[in-house]
Amino acid sequence: MIAIGCDHAGYDLKKDVIDFLNEKGFDTLDLGCSGEPVDYPEIAKNVCEKVVDGSCDKGILICGTGIGMSIAANKIKGIRAAVCSEHFSAKYTRLHNNSNVLCMGARVIGSGIANELAEIFITTEFEGGRHQRRIDLISDIENNN
Ligand code: RB5
Repeated sequence: MIAIGCDHAGYDLKKDVIDFLNEKGFDTLDLGCSGEPVDYPEIAKNVCEKVVDGSCDKGILICGTGIGMSIAANKIKGIRAAVCSEHFSAKYTRLHNNSNVLCMGARVIGSGIANELAEIFITTEFEGGRHQRRIDLISDIENNN
């Protein structure tokens, strides 16, 4: 299950991404908004909580730039959120960072790229190995060790 959320700037793109993912056979949990003006940190929190509690495998957050969502998401313990606008980053943030939330900017990219980034993000597995050590060091920072 993929948790997905947006603010007002990301609403139209979110609809496209949900339709695309559902057609590809991926289940989505839409946590808002419905197009009305909202404050993106609240949506980021709701999506990230579903990832942290394990009820969703990954999250997708869409705002105007993707940046506000990513800043908010990365404040939540256990979240590794990456803003992506091209394929290489979407692939390698899974392979190397084991990112669990993809953030995209609806004012930056169109639905063609966004849909492909979402699919790459969902289907690419973490490489582990030396990259796990680096993830552990990030967790240490998070835990103030
Ligand atoms: C909303 O206007 C905009 O600030 C928001 O969508 C996002 O881009 C913030 O990072």
